[in-house]
Amino acid sequence: MTTEPRAESDTINEQKLTELVETSLVDLGATVHASLAIIGDELGLYAALDNAGPLTSAELAQETDTAERYVREWLRAQAAGRYVTYDPETDRYGLSPEQAYVLADKESPVFMPGAFQLVSSVAKIEPELLEAFRTGEGVGWHEHDEDVFHGTERFFGPSYGAYLLDWIEALGGVDEKLKVGGRIADVGCGHGAPTIRMAEAYPDSTVVGIDYHEESITVARERAETAGVADRVDFEVATAREYDGADYDLVTMFNCFHDMGDPVGVAAHVRETLADDGAWMIVEPYAEDRVEDNLTPFGRLAYSISTVACTPNSLNQEVGYGLGAQAGEDQTREVVTEGGFTRFRRAAETPTSLVFEAKP
Ligand SMILES: C[S@@+](CC[C@H](N)C(=O)[O-])C[C@H]1O[C@@H](n2cnc3c(N)ncnc32)[C@H](O)[C@@H]1O
Repeated sequence: MTTEPRAESDTINEQKLTELVETSLVDLGATVHASLAIIGDELGLYAALDNAGPLTSAELAQETDTAERYVREWLRAQAAGRYVTYDPETDRYGLSPEQAYVLADKESPVFMPGAFQLVSSVAKIEPELLEAFRTGEGVGWHEHDEDVFHGTERFFGPSYGAYLLDWIEALGGVDEKLKVGGRIADVGCGHGAPTIRMAEAYPDSTVVGIDYHEESITVARERAETAGVADRVDFEVATAREYDGADYDLVTMFNCFHDMGDPVGVAAHVRETLADDGAWMIVEPYAEDRVEDNLTPFGRLAYSISTVACTPNSLNQEVGYGLGAQAGEDQTREVVTEGGFTRFRRAAETPTSLVFEAKP
């Protein structure tokens, strides 16, 4: 730290300072709002507003069997953040169709309460992260609060429901094979949301979900039972570099390739377990290749989660490559081809996802 007076060129620009303070105020409100969104979801406040709104705070409290004074304050915070509408004439709060789609419709691909659950719980291991920043050691996915695993499932799950089959159709000839009976391995499957979606869509195929995290595999098995597909989907505890099996027609990795400690070794192992005419589908968070092009609201979210969850997990495993959640197409291609694949292309994309196809 220097004790020299600031140089003339370093003097504070009032407008830039005001802008930064305003940004901080928005972010501070958003940080607290994450807990309020979780409360609104858990207690069914958004759902009640959607079903019965517009409502006064007393009516909402009665509908949801909650305490009016808390609900009133919550509603005002929600209205200030434009998450609910407010009509001063009637003192009633409601949800617009767009607000309902984002906050109350659990099947919507942009349902956000799960994302709030994820982002507010990744920070719970802040002491471990502080230490990791100092030492460079990793922090494993399994060391997180269990809300991280549930939030991940609820955040990504609906988007797999909406897009996954389109993504498979975008791969050359894979959908046709799976329809008549193929073999799928979903690696880094977590609670199995995409695994189960594929088992539902391709009843004549067999699907295996693989994850190194035992607790996630236990939950995935329960989810498969509930979904009625336990007869055609298996779940196994294994790492992406060592899972069993051969001749898979499709290996998938949903939002987890960048989490791997040794992505080159993982690519080499996928190559060994894939049929010669098989395909590897890698779904990654949307990213451009250059840092400066990722300095966007979505890039900010992805870099932030990458800092507290994805990169620490990668650094916690052998090799500790630390690809990061905003690696982009060029870096991903480099790693995948280094692992032995000769063909790599962007097969599909959404505003938040990149879908790559790699072939031997
Ligand atoms: C962000 S979650 C994604 C889960 C799931 N694919 C989904 O989209 O819902 C990342 C997952 O990768 C798993 N994972 C991380 N490193 C792994 C490894 N080396 N081998 C297998 N799984 C791994 C974690 O346990 C976690 O379940």
